[in-house]
Amino acid sequence: MHIRRLYLTDFRNYAELVLEPTEGMNILYGKNAQGKTNVLEAIVLLATTRSMRAGRDSQMIRAGAERAQIHAEIVREREGEVDLFLTILPTDRKSVQINHLKRERVLDLLGQFNAVFFGASELAIISGEPADRRHFLNMEISQISPRYVYDLAHYRRVLEQRNRLLRDLREMRLPRKDSGLEVWNEQLVRYGTSLIRRRLFYIERLTPLAAQIHAELTDGKEKLELRYQPGIDLTSEELPRTQESGASTLMAAEGKDAGGEVSTGTVSPFTVVYDAEESQLRSLFERHLQRVLDEELRRGTTLIGPQRDDLVFLINAVDARIYASQGQQRTVALSLKLAEFCLMERFIGEPPVMLLDDVMSDLDDVRRRRLLKWVQGRCQTFLTCTNLRSFPKEILREAAVFHVRAGTVCFEGFGTHFSKEAPEQPIPEDAAVLKKEPR
Ligand SMILES: Nc1ncnc2c1ncn2[C@@H]1O[C@H](COP(=O)(O)OP(=O)(O)OP(=O)(O)O)[C@@H](O)[C@H]1O
Ligand SMILES: [Mg+2]
Repeated sequence: MHIRRLYLTDFRNYAELVLEPTEGMNILYGKNAQGKTNVLEAIVLLATTRSMRAGRDSQMIRAGAERAQIHAEIVREREGEVDLFLTILPTDRKSVQINHLKRERVLDLLGQFNAVFFGASELAIISGEPADRRHFLNMEISQISPRYVYDLAHYRRVLEQRNRLLRDLREMRLPRKDSGLEVWNEQLVRYGTSLIRRRLFYIERLTPLAAQIHAELTDGKEKLELRYQPGIDLTSEELPRTQESGASTLMAAEGKDAGGEVSTGTVSPFTVVYDAEESQLRSLFERHLQRVLDEELRRGTTLIGPQRDDLVFLINAVDARIYASQGQQRTVALSLKLAEFCLMERFIGEPPVMLLDDVMSDLDDVRRRRLLKWVQGRCQTFLTCTNLRSFPKEILREAAVFHVRAGTVCFEGFGTHFSKEAPEQPIPEDAAVLKKEPR
């Protein structure tokens, strides 16, 4: 899968941009605040409908303009070419056209195009709060399961309503009977189970891949383990296992449910044949809910469920969040993202696009080289950096180099710029330079 052309209109600091990247490595270099990350952000929006940055959607509209537009011609090996068009409006609303047809829902974009983003913000997956890790799961799973997004939206609504009711019951001391709580319980369990099952499925497959990649990046010195800590206690019972083999594709079924267009030829991660396990997990959730109900009524809030899920990362059996150095945490985040790439490739049947934002300054020489070798020849990559000095020559030679300056992107050739760039001036060895200047 690759982007043949990307067009931006009034997006961030781009009035008008037409970018024709190569199918391999594309390096966007330039000084700070020139618009490098903005290009990656536009691509992330096409893949996920959301920016990786915090803030309101309307902030992405170029100052003084009425709307922002992102348009891309995507070449997919399995599903053919597709033309995606995303418009961002000042009201914070977005609209989507797929192959020039307007879609009712922005979420229809999901599954059309896939990309994996890695930047400084990904460190939060390791060092941040549980909510950051749940956000990571949500973003990743949503790209391969439209149904997950719908269930997540339902779950959030149910949770909000249920919490409101629990608060009312506590504060107004209303009787529980006839309050409607049973209905909310049933829905909480239904959508919550769906989220937990998909997260379980995803994490089970992500874990060995991330461990393997992390071992490669660290020369086998660090053993990475990933543990799912579900927001309902699953330890007392046997964990339900999801299965792939012999199943019809749920993604296709999901496509119908969710109104998305998903080809039946796509192998989905969520091919399921485990109705028994679904009911097993539901009844487990129900039982736990009954157990904590009195406490919930006392506190006026929901105490269990996927809104309390977390992930724990261990490096050589020690909690990475607490003990790992910043470089180690970054490498764990990177291993996770590369594992996510592999998983996505397996599920969609072709490599997604890789977006690497400013990774050159974060990683040491060895890890940087390994990362670049890892992506080389594997997928279309967009990599941002402030200079070309830290690139191995063999990578640079094959890369398309673009210079980004004040909202313009200029193609400079295939690695040719490297030889043109002025070498760094040597720093004088003595401190003569600090002598007072003669009057
Ligand atoms: N809505 C907007 N309208 C106009 N300009 C904007 C808008 N939003 C952001 N910008 C500008 O975009 C620039 C930042 O772009 P970007 O984050 O892509 O920089 P960068 O090249 O990645 O820099 P760095 O090397 O520091 O990461 C800033 O100058 C900012 O003022
Ligand atoms: Mg940037």
